[in-house]
Amino acid sequence: MRVERRAVDEDESRRANGPDWDRYADEYQATHGDFLGDAGFVWGPEGQTEADLAVLGAVEGKDVLEVGSGAGQCSRWVRTRGGRAIGLDLSHRQLQHSRRLDDDTGVAVPSVRATATHLPFADGSFDIVFCSFGALQFVADIEQALDETARVLRPGGRFAFSITHPTRWMFPDDPGVGGLTASQSYWDRTPYVEIDDASGVVSYVEHHRTLGDWVRLLAARGFTLTDLVEPEWPADHDRVWGGWSRTRGLLTPGTAIFVADLT
Ligand SMILES: C[S@@+](CC[C@H](N)C(=O)[O-])C[C@H]1O[C@@H](n2cnc3c(N)ncnc32)[C@H](O)[C@@H]1O
Repeated sequence: MRVERRAVDEDESRRANGPDWDRYADEYQATHGDFLGDAGFVWGPEGQTEADLAVLGAVEGKDVLEVGSGAGQCSRWVRTRGGRAIGLDLSHRQLQHSRRLDDDTGVAVPSVRATATHLPFADGSFDIVFCSFGALQFVADIEQALDETARVLRPGGRFAFSITHPTRWMFPDDPGVGGLTASQSYWDRTPYVEIDDASGVVSYVEHHRTLGDWVRLLAARGFTLTDLVEPEWPADHDRVWGGWSRTRGLLTPGTAIFVADLT
């Protein structure tokens, strides 16, 4: 596998990331499942939960869509709080894990296999749409994904999502001290791409937008940004997740949680 920064469109991103998440799902759930909790709502590798941060507000009685729901842990938590949460994910294997956890916990999350850029729901179906590191940084056509989010939300609805903090794109994806020296331009939006050596096929893609890009994307669709949560690394937390670690987390933000309401 070789790594490049180069332009990748929506079709190529989806063709790469669907199968990649199918391949990775078993390892992802085995590695992170206990940390996430079968019916837990963790916003990022720092470990802050929705119970800690309350960015969605009250969920009881609300129609809620989770985009990039994986095994549905967050939606399952919403359901235990009385919200009517539905999961949506590109990966069949991730959704199979969601079914497994439905059975294990007795809390079922109705889920659909689809992509963030084509939400299979009628206009104004939801009070809340959220993503916990789901979908958005894997999507090339972010304009279409946000158009779709605004379309399925009711007026006054809330959109909250966590992503890799945009400033992390300046640094190598290294949880050690090597990940503390800026070596790439923050303003370089060229996607991160992994390419299979044998086939030459793109096998994984992530897309970068700056903080200002996100503000403009949200404002253009009638969202009012009400908060930007940058979780601090907890003093007693010493878990490595990819490029997230105590070494880096004590010095630089690793996660950004945007909270926006549709006017
Ligand atoms: C980092 S995982 C997060 C899953 C879950 N929110 C969690 O906290 O474990 C990202 C998820 O986004 C899904 N995903 C990637 N691209 C997507 C797309 N275009 N539309 C919907 N889901 C997508 C992946 O299949 C994967 O399950």
